[in-house]
Amino acid sequence: MKRVVALHPSADVGESLPDPSFSEAVVSWQKHHGRHGLPWQNTRDAYRIWLSEIMLQQTQVAAVIPYYGRFLVRFPDIATLASATQEEVMAHWSGLGYYSRARNLHRCARQVMEQYSGKFPADPVLLAELPGIGRSTAAAIAAFAHGARAAILDGNVKRVFARVFGIEAYPGEKKIEEVLWRRAEALLPVQNMASYTQGLMDLGATVCTRTKPACPTCPLALRCVAFNTLRTHELPVKKPKKAVPEKQAAMLIVVDRNEILLQQRPSSGIWGGLLSLPEVDGFLLHTGKKTGSPSWTKEAITQVLASFGEADAIESLPGISHGFTHFKLHITPYRVTLKRRLHLAAENEYVWYPIAGLAMAPLPAPIKKLLTEFCAVADIGK
Ligand code: ADE
Repeated sequence: MKRVVALHPSADVGESLPDPSFSEAVVSWQKHHGRHGLPWQNTRDAYRIWLSEIMLQQTQVAAVIPYYGRFLVRFPDIATLASATQEEVMAHWSGLGYYSRARNLHRCARQVMEQYSGKFPADPVLLAELPGIGRSTAAAIAAFAHGARAAILDGNVKRVFARVFGIEAYPGEKKIEEVLWRRAEALLPVQNMASYTQGLMDLGATVCTRTKPACPTCPLALRCVAFNTLRTHELPVKKPKKAVPEKQAAMLIVVDRNEILLQQRPSSGIWGGLLSLPEVDGFLLHTGKKTGSPSWTKEAITQVLASFGEADAIESLPGISHGFTHFKLHITPYRVTLKRRLHLAAENEYVWYPIAGLAMAPLPAPIKKLLTEFCAVADIGK
């Protein structure tokens, strides 16, 4: 049963009104329960703060800590970093992932040296013009280094807002993101910007987690739409899945004298360089909805057959489907019985392959599975 509750007025979806009680709750919670001993805290040095914020993009605190320490030993200030080679910067980033961050970091250091004489600007708008610094990272740097009133909105903060305000749409969507930015700005406190910014980050990372959030310890629980309507598992709304294109292919199973006809696949594309079943042109059928299985004309099959034999009978078998990263392939196998087997030309892409060796053949996994089942049902290859 869903609980019916009177929510805090700031929970109204779509509203972007100032509400000092929101930031007061976050700041007070941060002081008592937030993180305080992280290596990039307790400093106002924009270089150190900037470095931490870049390393923390898409990377967990625990993974960043050892890299952060080693990086600062080798590059203690922006001038040292700017004058280093790209190779040396990359070497100190190696293992942290998302390497465009390291390339941008190096470019940014050089630009700050040239454009700002080695001193990061305090204005988040100017910070966001530098390589690798987006709007949220710029706000975090400006808030931590200068107490600037600028809003952050990273993935963790989007989750907190989506739950607290009951945002019923995917928060990565442009329009919803704009709503969230407006909210984030309206909620900024007049002072305590560093504690507030750190508090939002800490809440997202340690309390309002993606799974199993610790709502009873949350300072925003009383005003949280998701908590009060028992929907923390439904919010934030997940990214809508894109329709996957679907392709159809007919494949021929031609068995003759303990051998099966296989086709060498082109070296690039799916299953590149492997052997597979002879294919009657696959084609893009439709995107998204199913429209029933297609039937290949006897002519198309006969045309493929022309280079290796003459068909006696063609029989369609139950199909299989295989999911690739970017599309789904539906395969309809056709069993072909030959009247007459032709000699294969030396340069032909087809080969007669011993059925006994199929288990070791360089075949794509779904084709190997299809053939294993076919051989078992047809009782061949024993
Ligand atoms: N993630 C991004 N910035 C952070 C920070 N300053 N502390 C902890 N986690 C973070």
